[in-house]
Amino acid sequence: MAEPVAAPILAVEGLQKRFGGLTALGGIDLAVGKGEVIGIIGANGAGKTTFVNIVTGYLKPSDGRITVNGIDVTGLPPRVMTRRGICRSFQMSQLFASLTCLENLVLAHAAAENGGWKLLADPWTADRLARAEEGLARFGIADYRDARTATLPQGVRKLLDVVLAVAARPHLLLLDEPTSGIASDQRFQIMDVIMGQMAECGVTVLFVEHDMDLVERYARRVLAFLDGRIAADGSVAEVFGHDEVRRAIVGDHRATRRPMGPGQ
Ligand SMILES: Nc1ncnc2c1ncn2[C@@H]1O[C@H](COP(=O)(O)OP(=O)(O)OP(=O)(O)O)[C@@H](O)[C@H]1O
Ligand SMILES: [Mg+2]
Repeated sequence: MAEPVAAPILAVEGLQKRFGGLTALGGIDLAVGKGEVIGIIGANGAGKTTFVNIVTGYLKPSDGRITVNGIDVTGLPPRVMTRRGICRSFQMSQLFASLTCLENLVLAHAAAENGGWKLLADPWTADRLARAEEGLARFGIADYRDARTATLPQGVRKLLDVVLAVAARPHLLLLDEPTSGIASDQRFQIMDVIMGQMAECGVTVLFVEHDMDLVERYARRVLAFLDGRIAADGSVAEVFGHDEVRRAIVGDHRATRRPMGPGQ
């Protein structure tokens, strides 16, 4: 079981979401502590993206309460959640395909400053350009500065998604499948960059992931979503060893792997 969290950065109580007759989330309770790195696992349709959408303001809950640093933010829109320090990346990339990496980032910085996407007379300020360049450099993709995002290799695109998501300097970052569409031999490389940067900035991270090797490597705590509820919440070993989770999500992942030593 997860330890009780004192002064959570995010707390969710009795969160429910119904789409017509379908219950996507059937009552989620969760407290996230500052600096935690949490992996969210679950089969297709378990409610992971719905949870991310609600916490970041992209969907309104049917019931329940969300607080950020003790302040009720239930049902508030994305721009308000961003101002409260909660940002996210998307399962499907949200980049402007015909713009370059730098242009996408400058617009993201402008949007972060203005509380949303608005038509701006001149988004190209020296400060935004400098911060965009710095973001690309920090994530090791400065060589792609002037490449249009439609032409990017998938790995670079996924990194750029995260650079965009952190433009507003979040305290809590939710990543929805940060390595989807990436060849398995490149996923660790990409996650190393993302997680290294987030650790350096002290950002709390929740990441949705289907690759159990990545969850095992990066998550300090795992939430297993099953049919719209959290079936298990605890360390990797606890959750991967949970009967229902093993049957429905993880399979024989642990049994087929050699134990991992420290630092591997
Ligand atoms: N906007 C919507 N309208 C109606 N039903 C929806 C909507 N969004 C999600 N659902 C349904 O809610 C359930 C949970 O979907 P969700 O996208 O949260 O799953 P997920 O765990 O992210 O799955 P995946 O691993 O495939 O991304 C599914 O049955 C899905 O079809
Ligand atoms: Mg999803």
